[in-house]
Amino acid sequence: MTKLKSVEELKKIRDEARKDLMSRVQTGTRIIIGMGTCGIAAGAREVMQAVLKELDNRKIEAHVETVGCVGMCAKEPLVDVEQAGKSRVRYGNITQEKVPRLIEEHLIRGQVIQEWAVSRMEAQKT
Ligand code: FES
Repeated sequence: MTKLKSVEELKKIRDEARKDLMSRVQTGTRIIIGMGTCGIAAGAREVMQAVLKELDNRKIEAHVETVGCVGMCAKEPLVDVEQAGKSRVRYGNITQEKVPRLIEEHLIRGQVIQEWAVSRMEAQKT
């Protein structure tokens, strides 16, 4: 790790981090991963790493966040995908191997993978 030489340098790093965060939040795409105890036990950490890697490989901007217990132990790991103006879809039993197809079909082609979906929350009207 390099040493900071001035307050200006620190401010510059902070501003760049803020800009990066804002661009990810403003993309309108959120991927939410259940990280309750059962989610972690079922492999949610590995799924999150696979999601981050896939997004990075495909240069897709999305806001990835984690939540605690989602209340559906049997369906863990759970991954929700939400895109601006569309329903939030919750996918169950997601594995690292399923992540590329999830990103390809849902995020890129806009098609819900019905056989993996466990619920859908309608988009909120503003
Ligand atoms: S601990 Fe499993 S759903 Fe909450």
